[in-house]
Parts: sequence; structure tokens; C-alpha cells
Amino acid sequence: MWVVIILSLTGSIHSSPLLTSSLEEQTQVTKDTNETVYTCEQVCWYEDWFSRAHCYNRQLDQIPISTGCERATLLELQNNNIKSITFERISGYTHVRTLDMSRNKITVVFSNIFVNNHNLTNIILSGNKLDKLYNGVFNGTERNLLRIYLRDNKIEILEAGAFFGLGHTISLYLSNNSLTHLPSGIFNDLKDLKHLCLMQNNIVELRRHDFKGLHHLENLTLQGNKVGNLQQGLFHGLQSLKEVNLSKNHLIHIPSPRSLGLHHHMMTLDLSNNNFTNSSTLVPFLFNSTYVVYIHDNPFTCDCAYKKLQEKLLNLSAYVSQPLKCYSEGILYDIHDNLSLFCNEHNVVSTSSSSLLVSTIAYHEEEEVSVSQLSKVENTFQVKQHNVVVTTRENINIRNNYVVYQDQSNYLMWYIAIVLTFLLITVTSLLVYLCCIFRRQKGVTACKG
Ligand SMILES: *[C@@H]1O[C@H](CO)[C@@H](O)[C@H](O)[C@H]1NC(C)=O
Ligand SMILES: *[C@@H]1O[C@H](CO)[C@@H](O)[C@H](O)[C@H]1NC(C)=O
Ligand SMILES: *[C@@H]1O[C@H](CO)[C@@H](O)[C@H](O)[C@H]1NC(C)=O
Ligand SMILES: *[C@@H]1O[C@H](CO)[C@@H](O)[C@H](O)[C@H]1NC(C)=O
Ligand SMILES: *[C@@H]1O[C@H](CO)[C@@H](O)[C@H](O)[C@H]1NC(C)=O
Ligand SMILES: *[C@@H]1O[C@H](CO)[C@@H](O)[C@H](O)[C@H]1NC(C)=O
Ligand SMILES: *[C@@H]1O[C@H](CO)[C@@H](O)[C@H](O)[C@H]1NC(C)=O
Ligand SMILES: *[C@@H]1O[C@H](CO)[C@@H](O)[C@H](O)[C@H]1NC(C)=O
Ligand SMILES: *[C@@H]1O[C@H](CO)[C@@H](O)[C@H](O)[C@H]1NC(C)=O
Ligand SMILES: *[C@@H]1O[C@H](CO)[C@@H](O)[C@H](O)[C@H]1NC(C)=O
Ligand SMILES: *[C@@H]1O[C@H](CO)[C@@H](O)[C@H](O)[C@H]1NC(C)=O
Repeated sequence: MWVVIILSLTGSIHSSPLLTSSLEEQTQVTKDTNETVYTCEQVCWYEDWFSRAHCYNRQLDQIPISTGCERATLLELQNNNIKSITFERISGYTHVRTLDMSRNKITVVFSNIFVNNHNLTNIILSGNKLDKLYNGVFNGTERNLLRIYLRDNKIEILEAGAFFGLGHTISLYLSNNSLTHLPSGIFNDLKDLKHLCLMQNNIVELRRHDFKGLHHLENLTLQGNKVGNLQQGLFHGLQSLKEVNLSKNHLIHIPSPRSLGLHHHMMTLDLSNNNFTNSSTLVPFLFNSTYVVYIHDNPFTCDCAYKKLQEKLLNLSAYVSQPLKCYSEGILYDIHDNLSLFCNEHNVVSTSSSSLLVSTIAYHEEEEVSVSQLSKVENTFQVKQHNVVVTTRENINIRNNYVVYQDQSNYLMWYIAIVLTFLLITVTSLLVYLCCIFRRQKGVTACKG
């Protein structure tokens, strides 16, 4: 009877914060050696109330043995020096729901490592040194895994079955890695995915079926990649899509919204900071969509197509919060300026030499268009950048102008010649006529015709 009471007492003492933190102090001194095998009880503070094991910022080089924290649902191991996750250690924490191992030195996570962590819901592995995700790495967590954080690693290779069976996952964060392409079908199983973050990678190409079947996808961040081409049908069937950010890529051309498969429920599409020069490619996005489209910071050519775009913007009684400027041969042109200069009817001089500084054009609900200017600093930077482009184009333009000038002078000569001939004929006939009248007055009747 007493023994039972004493045992249960010691049991509760074990998980008392006071005692564990004093244990922590003791072990802090002894854990300096490399080979020490320590338990959670020794090095962490287990907070019974929240089933939370505080093990962060402790310079741990391995996951502690679960003793003392077996019931933990929240295991915080961030900011340590852990290099690997071993099956024998992690499977001791069978109740864990949130595993935070961000900012460690993990280089590899092998397949089937989490098969005993069925209740794992959030896995945070950001800020490690992973370079590859193996097939079946999340095997065992399929029923509960909702969020996967893999930001700030060095992931270059995703094996095609890396996200095998993860039918409940809603968020997958892979930003700031080294991905260059997406293996076909990589996201096939992620039927419930809502947020897919692929920003700040080196992705050069997106293929038609890369996002196939992601019917719940709402937010797709792709900014800061090197995508030069979007294939038709890329967004086909993604009926929940709301935000797509393609800013800071290398896009030059883009299929129409319809052939891309974009839906009308979309809220924002960011195409800023790309390599678009031809403004007419973006017209279907600006004037036929119900969502906000950002097109600022593209090296648009100030040509007829652009002039038409401006006309349309002004026709819409667009709200222009700050003047939109156009830069040509050292001169900035306002959106309200007469830009006929850049669009000659003969189309010979239409290769105008200006690059346009389009600021933010946000188009919404076919009525409001807001154009906000870049900050002063950005503007100067832009001007500097475009100087290069402008000077090269100037050279081409000088040649064009020369040709045009020659042509025009030829026309002028012909014109003068015709006019002179005409004048000559008129004057002569007039003289002949006057001469006749003069002779008639003198009584000579020889002049009849
Ligand atoms: C751990 O021990 C190994 C061999 O005993 C040694 O090479 C390594 O440098 C040690 N690491 C640390 C962090 O002390
Ligand atoms: C996993 O979660 C379920 C539902 O909350 C619970 O019944 C079960 O005991 C948990 N399993 C473990 C091993 O914690
Ligand atoms: C992951 O689990 C599935 C089925 O549960 C299995 O088919 C697959 O082989 C496993 N992956 C690995 C790498 O073991
Ligand atoms: C990207 O990740 C690296 C570590 O891999 C980190 O040093 C860097 O600060 C991260 N960059 C950003 C913009 O978060
Ligand atoms: C989409 O993701 C970005 C970056 O993660 C975030 O800033 C934005 O709020 C998200 N939008 C929605 C609707 O969740
Ligand atoms: C798209 O990403 C860029 C770069 O990260 C960011 O500045 C911009 O605000 C994002 N666009 C939207 C609509 O969130
Ligand atoms: C796009 O622009 C970037 C930055 O100006 C440049 O480095 C890149 O080569 C361009 N890509 C293409 C395909 O034109
Ligand atoms: C610009 O794009 C439009 C539509 O895609 C195309 O018809 C036109 O030929 C392009 N202009 C130039 C100069 O490439
Ligand atoms: C504008 O949208 C309507 C309705 O979706 C579509 O029928 C039409 O082809 C679109 N026009 C252009 C130029 O994209
Ligand atoms: C702008 O409006 C005027 C008159 O309302 C019209 O003649 C002209 O075609 C319109 N221009 C464009 C580009 O829509
Ligand atoms: C713009 O300038 C051209 C000649 O450069 C002129 O023919 C035209 O009438 C001007 N348009 C307006 C609206 O002033």
C-alpha cells in the first residue's frame, strides 16, 4: 500500500518542472563529452500540463532517449547540433504530434524513419542541411500529417515517392532550397494540399502535369525561381487556386489565362519582375480578368502595343495614384503625355528606343486600375538598369531613322519635281493665253484654240 503511494509520488515528481530543471543544470555540466548518451529527462524540461518537452538551445548532438518524456506531444529540439534522426530514438516518442527540429545540422532523413509516429501532425525540419528527400520518408504518418516545413535547406533532389500517401497534408513549404525541376507526379498524392511554397529555388521549367490533381490548392508561391516558360494547361483543374506568385522569374512569354487553365475565382496573379518586353502578351490578363494582376518591373518596350495599353488604361478612367513613367533617350514620359512619338503610323519607326518603367498596375473587377509608382530609390536603380538597354536600342534606331530619312527625301524630291512641272505648265499656258488676248485686241484673228 505505502509502496504504491511512494511510487506514484515519485512518478509525479519526475515530471515536475522544478525537479527536471535542476536535473538539467546538473547534466549541462556533464554533457560536454561527445559520446554521452542522455535521456530527455536529463537534458530537457518536460512540462506535464502541455505534454511538452523543451529541448531547444541546448547544443544537443543527438535526439535524447525518450525516458521521462514518453508522453510528449510537442517535442522541441530546434537550435541544436543534431546531425541525424535515428529510428530507434524518434520512435520512442510515439505520442508526438509536433516535432520541431528546425535549425539543426541534419543532412539526411532516411525512409520509414517515422513509422512509429502515427500521430505526427506537424514536422518542422527547416534550416537544416538536407539535400535529398527519399521515397517514403514520411511513411507511417499518412493519417495525420498536415504540415511539412522544409524551408532553408539545400534540397536538390526529390525522389518521386517522397510524399507518398500524404492525402491529408495541407501545407508543404519547400522555399529557399536548390530544386531545379519537379519530378513528374511528385505532388500526385497530396490531394488536400492548400499551400505549396516553392519560392527561392532554381526551378527553370514547369511542365503541364506538375500540379495535376491538386484540386484544393489555393496558394502557389513560385517567386524567385528561373522559370522561363509556362506550358499550356499548367493550372488546368486547379479550381481552388487563389494566389499565384510568379514574381522574379525569367518569363518572356505566357499563354493566355484560358490556355493556362486559370479560373475566375483567382484573387491575385503576380507577374512582376520578369523579362516581359511585349506588353500585348499581358493584355488578356489585364483587361479580361476579375483578379488583381501585377506587372510592374518588366522591361516593356515602349511601342505601339504599349501605347494601346496606355490608351486602354486611361480609357478605363483608371485610378492612377502616381504617374506612370516611360523612359526614352534620357527623357521620362508621363502616362498622360502624348506618346505618339513611339508609334508611327507607317510602322517603320515603331522600333522606338524607350523602355518603360511600369510601376504597379493592379487591375481589379474590370473597373479600378491602380498604378502606384516605385519608390525613388528603385526608380533610379531602374533607370540605371535600363540605360544599358536603351543605348543598345538607340543604335538600332539611328539606322532605322536614317533609312526613313532617305526615303522621305526621295519622296520630297519627286513631290517638288511634280509641283514644279505643274507650275511650269500652268505658267506657260497662262502666258500663251494672255498672248492670244493681247493679239486679239490688236485685231489679229489667227489665235483660235
Ligand atoms: C566526437 O568524437 C569524435 C571521435 O571520438 C571526434 O572525431 C569528433 O570531433 C567529436 N566531436 C565533437 C563535436 O567533439
Ligand atoms: C493518436 O491520436 C488519437 C486521436 O487523438 C488517440 O486516440 C491516440 O491515442 C493517439 N495515439 C498515440 C500513440 O498517441
Ligand atoms: C512507404 O509505404 C508504402 C506503403 O505503405 C510502401 O509501398 C513503400 O514501399 C514505402 N516506402 C519505402 C521507401 O519503404
Ligand atoms: C536560405 O537558406 C540559407 C541556408 O540554407 C540561409 O542561410 C539563408 O539566409 C536563407 N535565405 C533566406 C532569404 O531566407
Ligand atoms: C500565400 O502564401 C504567402 C507566402 O507564404 C503568404 O504571404 C500569403 O498570405 C498566402 N496567402 C494565402 C491566401 O494564404
Ligand atoms: C510575390 O512575391 C514577391 C517577392 O517575394 C513579393 O514582393 C510580392 O508581394 C508577392 N506578391 C503578392 C501578390 O503577394
Ligand atoms: C531575364 O532577366 C534576367 C535579369 O535581368 C537575366 O539574368 C536573364 O538572363 C533573363 N533571361 C532570359 C531568358 O532572357
Ligand atoms: C507581341 O505579342 C503579341 C501577342 O502575343 C503578338 O501578336 C506580337 O507579334 C508580339 N509582338 C512582338 C514585337 O513580338
Ligand atoms: C475574355 O473572357 C471571356 C469569358 O471567359 C472569353 O470568352 C474571351 O475569350 C476572353 N477574351 C480574351 C481576349 O481572352
Ligand atoms: C478609347 O475610347 C475612345 C472613345 O471612347 C475610343 O474611340 C477608343 O477606341 C478607345 N481606345 C481603346 C484603346 O480602347
Ligand atoms: C500627339 O502628337 C501627334 C504628333 O506628334 C499629334 O498628331 C496628335 O494630335 C497629338 N495628340 C494629342 C492628343 O495631342
